[in-house]
Amino acid sequence: MDNIKVLDNDYIAHTYGRFNVLINKGKGSLCYDDNGREYIDLGSGIAVNSFGICDDEWKNAVIDQLDKVSHTSNLYYSSPQAKLAKMLCDRTGMKKVFFANSGAEANECAIKVARKYSSDKYGEGRSTIITLVNSFHGRTITTLSATGQDVFHKHFGPFTGGFKFAHAGDKDEINALVKEGGVCGIMIELVQGEGGVIPLDNAYVDEIARLCKENDIILIVDEVQTGNGRTGKLYAFENYGIKPDVFTTAKGLAGGLPFGACVMGEKTQDVLGKGDHGSTFGGNPICAAGALSILSRIDDELLKGVTERSELIRKKLEAVPEVESVTGLGLMLGVSVKGATAADVVNKAIEKGCIPLTAKTKVRLLPALNIPIPVLEKGLDILIEAIKECTAANK
Ligand SMILES: Cc1ncc(COP(=O)(O)O)c(C=O)c1O
Repeated sequence: MDNIKVLDNDYIAHTYGRFNVLINKGKGSLCYDDNGREYIDLGSGIAVNSFGICDDEWKNAVIDQLDKVSHTSNLYYSSPQAKLAKMLCDRTGMKKVFFANSGAEANECAIKVARKYSSDKYGEGRSTIITLVNSFHGRTITTLSATGQDVFHKHFGPFTGGFKFAHAGDKDEINALVKEGGVCGIMIELVQGEGGVIPLDNAYVDEIARLCKENDIILIVDEVQTGNGRTGKLYAFENYGIKPDVFTTAKGLAGGLPFGACVMGEKTQDVLGKGDHGSTFGGNPICAAGALSILSRIDDELLKGVTERSELIRKKLEAVPEVESVTGLGLMLGVSVKGATAADVVNKAIEKGCIPLTAKTKVRLLPALNIPIPVLEKGLDILIEAIKECTAANK
């Protein structure tokens, strides 16, 4: 570990504040550091390892594809890509997919789709996209511009223009922004993940859907974090009874491989034509094979298990006096702790053998969708001990 820490410090750009652990191997929801010490994984690589680390079925699907073809090019047809696109459309009622490599890239594509839809139909000048003040949509210059947290709007300007921000829950404000004119898209996360695991209010989402429909505005739902079973539905928009014109996803889609998708509906399916967008690696056959394996296993039974695990977590944590609140949906939960910072709690939990995450002031839990219940319970016991020790130390 010490040697790796030195190499990391000397040769890797200092963009990450790392927790003091080196994960060397793992299986499912258990992982091990370089001394062989076991940890319970309550973060699944920030909602990426959908079925845990090195899940056998996923691994076999990926290896199988590696034995066939690892990469071709989007100049040629690809079997895993085509099958995956059909599966995504069949299961969501959407019509076309563009494959990317990450959440930010999927969102870049969605932004292009909204703007081109409008430019094709209404001409230039109707290019504004409204996003929410506490949102997070990625780290490229354009998705940083779309991200509505001020902290991201420093140092890297000039940013891409054409974004306006609305406060979540304020119907009057978003109505007023639409009335200003020039709006082609509204982009939302239904549960703001990086913003602190905050679900949007049903009535507010209904209002956005209504505004989009009545004004021919493209509704983009960013399902990068909420997608692929995370909230107890295949995609979070199903919890809200809305149908986006475009949704994006990444993270858990390929169960541990870099992949993203921009999924287009009835209205937007033909917006992108030849040469309008592209990616060398987008739709890579190995990643697509991994995604096919993951998506085909997110069925009703699995989703029921997500909801059961979510209820178990809430019940256990809400009974802890030091826990102020538990927010979120499914296995995307944020825990507010009275009298201790989220970072202190996570550091303490890691010391004790379990790995949660933070999201702003909250401890964030994003365990594997199939985390075995006894493992989850043990992880929560460790987390609760960490919460109690941290709050006691601050008294
Ligand atoms: C909602 C949301 N959108 C976009 C992104 C960016 O995804 P990526 O890091 O894969 O580019 C994230 C990452 O946390 C996210 O949570």
